[in-house]
Amino acid sequence: MAGAGGSDASFRRALVAGNWKMHHDHLATLHFLRDLGFRLDPADLEVVDVAIHPPFTDLRTAQSVIEDRSLPVDLGAQHCSEHDEGPYTGEVSPAMLARLGVRYVIVGHSERRRLYAMADHTVAATVRAVLRHAMVPILCVGESLEQRQEGGTEDHLRVQLTEALEGLASDVVKGLVVAYEPLWAIGTGQAATPEDAQAACRFVRRVVADMVGDHAAADLRVQYGGSVNADNTAALMAQPDVDGLLVGGASLEAQAFGDIVRSAAACYRSLVAARHR
Ligand code: PGA
Repeated sequence: MAGAGGSDASFRRALVAGNWKMHHDHLATLHFLRDLGFRLDPADLEVVDVAIHPPFTDLRTAQSVIEDRSLPVDLGAQHCSEHDEGPYTGEVSPAMLARLGVRYVIVGHSERRRLYAMADHTVAATVRAVLRHAMVPILCVGESLEQRQEGGTEDHLRVQLTEALEGLASDVVKGLVVAYEPLWAIGTGQAATPEDAQAACRFVRRVVADMVGDHAAADLRVQYGGSVNADNTAALMAQPDVDGLLVGGASLEAQAFGDIVRSAAACYRSLVAARHR
């Protein structure tokens, strides 16, 4: 399926992922997925991949519902250990997630970095751990308000990307997802403007191109995240380097999340059609 996408006419499917953070127990997960199943239009899923990232304790339930109902939804996790097993109290192994059918793992979300002191080298090790188990990391990067105001956005993004991806082969990097999530937009109701989101996502792709070449960078999927909702989805998805959305608060209700998927798909489809006209 042709994906929209800038910086070289490429072939990228959109990815709309719901990061539930610490919300919804396994029963709520069951209800959410049943509801979402009725709202997803198979035609939309030809251009958009959909993932949910519930808390760890919900994953087994989510896996069962997705399998039983053949739901076109990928399972995601919000974090994992950089180790496969061992004396790491409270951590969850990437091997265990892979066994549950998890496809995507968010790595280095700003809440992990800020609240749990997740350092760049741990982010890098976790990216590798996720890859070791044939899952797809969604690497989160993004600047604080102070960094943006001081003009340091690009330097910060470059450091975060370099620390996380240095040394990875180009054919590995092209299969990753990077989520650009400016800290000042997360949970604030103040999404980045489509132009700012585009500029940052294009910069992410340029840094990755510097590291692994233009071809791999053109395949990389770059999401925007931070106060995404059904109203701002279309304008964000219309940007050529925005290949998807990482959605927090608005992913908690099946209706709102379904509306975002529908809007993203409609926008993406018309971009693809325009390109082939
Ligand atoms: P938000 O969260 O959509 O609630 O701003 C996004 C995120 O943290 O991934």
